[in-house]
Amino acid sequence: MIIKVEAIVREDKLDDVIAALTEIEVNGISVSQVMGHGVQKGYTELVRGQEVIVNLVPKIKFEIVVSSEEWEKKTIEAIQKAAFTGDVGDGKIFSYDIRCVMRIRTREKDYDAIN
Ligand SMILES: Nc1ncnc2c1ncn2[C@@H]1O[C@H](COP(=O)(O)OP(=O)(O)OP(=O)(O)O)[C@@H](O)[C@H]1O
Ligand SMILES: [Mg+2]
Repeated sequence: MIIKVEAIVREDKLDDVIAALTEIEVNGISVSQVMGHGVQKGYTELVRGQEVIVNLVPKIKFEIVVSSEEWEKKTIEAIQKAAFTGDVGDGKIFSYDIRCVMRIRTREKDYDAIN
């Protein structure tokens, strides 16, 4: 079973989440900067004296592909603990099935391509 765990977290949780994933020894991660919003759409901010509605907030997205449900669970738990503050905007974790993986260098597939 090949599963992708995707997490959107606060920008200032980047280092904590990387540390947590390094500790459980995941075999690879991708990180990117994204813009988004959750349930609370928009908040007001003062820009050059004008109140403007900010609709999208910068967040960090992690993508981790793992090769079992056990690893899926471990990865989700580690991210949740590391990214938690308890305030709105902490982010979300998604997981879904991946159809196939290929390691470009060796043409290995699926489990072998991840481990
Ligand atoms: N349903 C969703 N689909 C895609 N991305 C989402 C979704 N919900 C949240 N996100 C992403 O996660 C980021 C943080 O979301 P956020 O934590 O505000 O979710 P929430 O559901 O509003 O929870 P909370 O009430 O804790 O704020 C968003 O900026 C967006 O990038
Ligand atoms: Mg929100």
